[in-house]
Amino acid sequence: MENESYTLNFKSVPHGTETSKLIYFKKTKDLFEFFWSTFRRNYEEIIIVTDEKIAELKNVKEFLEISKEKHAEIVTIPTGEINKTFDNVLVMLNRALSKGFSRRCTFVALGGGVISDMCALASSLYKRGAQLQIIPTTLLSMSDAAIGGKTGCDYGAYKNMLGTFYPANTIYFCPEFLDSLSKKEYYSGLAEVIKTAMLYDKDLFELLKSDTRKVKDRDEVILYDAIKKCSIAKSRIVEQDITEKDIRRQLNLGHTFAHALESVAGFGVVPHGCAVAWGIGRALEMSLNLGYCSKEYRDDVFELLELYGYCTKAIPDEIKNLEDAGARLIEAMKQDKKNEPGKICFILQKGLEDTVIINVDEKQIKKVL
Ligand SMILES: NC(=O)c1ccc[n+]([C@@H]2O[C@H](COP(=O)([O-])OP(=O)(O)OC[C@H]3O[C@@H](n4cnc5c(N)ncnc54)[C@H](O)[C@@H]3O)[C@@H](O)[C@H]2O)c1
Repeated sequence: MENESYTLNFKSVPHGTETSKLIYFKKTKDLFEFFWSTFRRNYEEIIIVTDEKIAELKNVKEFLEISKEKHAEIVTIPTGEINKTFDNVLVMLNRALSKGFSRRCTFVALGGGVISDMCALASSLYKRGAQLQIIPTTLLSMSDAAIGGKTGCDYGAYKNMLGTFYPANTIYFCPEFLDSLSKKEYYSGLAEVIKTAMLYDKDLFELLKSDTRKVKDRDEVILYDAIKKCSIAKSRIVEQDITEKDIRRQLNLGHTFAHALESVAGFGVVPHGCAVAWGIGRALEMSLNLGYCSKEYRDDVFELLELYGYCTKAIPDEIKNLEDAGARLIEAMKQDKKNEPGKICFILQKGLEDTVIINVDEKQIKKVL
């Protein structure tokens, strides 16, 4: 006999906001002025989250001083992936709670992807969802992490294991922040720009190939344009599939490999974007092995990756001395959130702007590691 049952039908549960506004600035001064001009009253409940390194940047320091005068709460988290912990999410939540902030308060992430992911997670949890604004300060967060509502922190040995989907109300972009970024972090972000170009923007791919010098020199005009193109391309995909059931999975090009590398090397050893660049190379090698893409396209991408100094070797130097590095990478890949039980999912390409999502067996994975 069948048990009695009843199905509840809900309208979709709202994510903190139904719209995200992207605003682009040329100068950080204009961005900060605009930011405060949108909060008309001085007694708004605002909690600004940043990290120790960013808080020391000259233009940010001034902004934080003004923010304090306007009674904003400032939370400064130690810098780096190693601090992307649930404990630090709790630090943010405890601050808002200790100040008695209502659910109408605004969490403002001022930083790279580590800060925006954690601050967005805190915002989504605070009294079941507060307001969220993001001011990305790294190339990686401007071109990728700040957009699309994925929040999270690392847990145990695995990346981004705890998280929610919670898009920001407003995201403020400005390439001037990138002047102070270290070379390592700049190239980490550039990998996500290359990824987006491969997925959605042939012209940007060509520009990255032809204008290498200007890109390496952080030409403001090129960066402004590239950031705009990448953030809008990602937004268009996310609009169609916020919870990553379908087309959004394309954005994970290189990421199954990258997350495994980051996990095996230890968080923070290989910058996220550099792991992604290596992962893109491995994904293209796999695409070639499985007959999806031509040798010409694989070589074209390898050439671009090498032009910017990314690793295209099967096993990167950071883990080459580990015993069974390849097997360890595969074990880590099995934990990837995109997988269906018993399968490992990869984003591969047939060519520029031509992407496929498939499950691949271990034999094929071993061939590229
Ligand atoms: N939510 C998403 O969709 C998404 C997408 C991609 C990556 N991510 C996450 O993003 C994180 C990586 O982000 P990231 O690369 O921005 O790292 P990050 O936030 O750790 O920043 C990198 C370093 O740069 C410093 N920094 C930031 N801005 C600076 C500036 N303007 N000048 C000088 N130094 C500055 C930071 O203090 C830090 O030391 C990872 O945790 C990854 O999982 C999230």
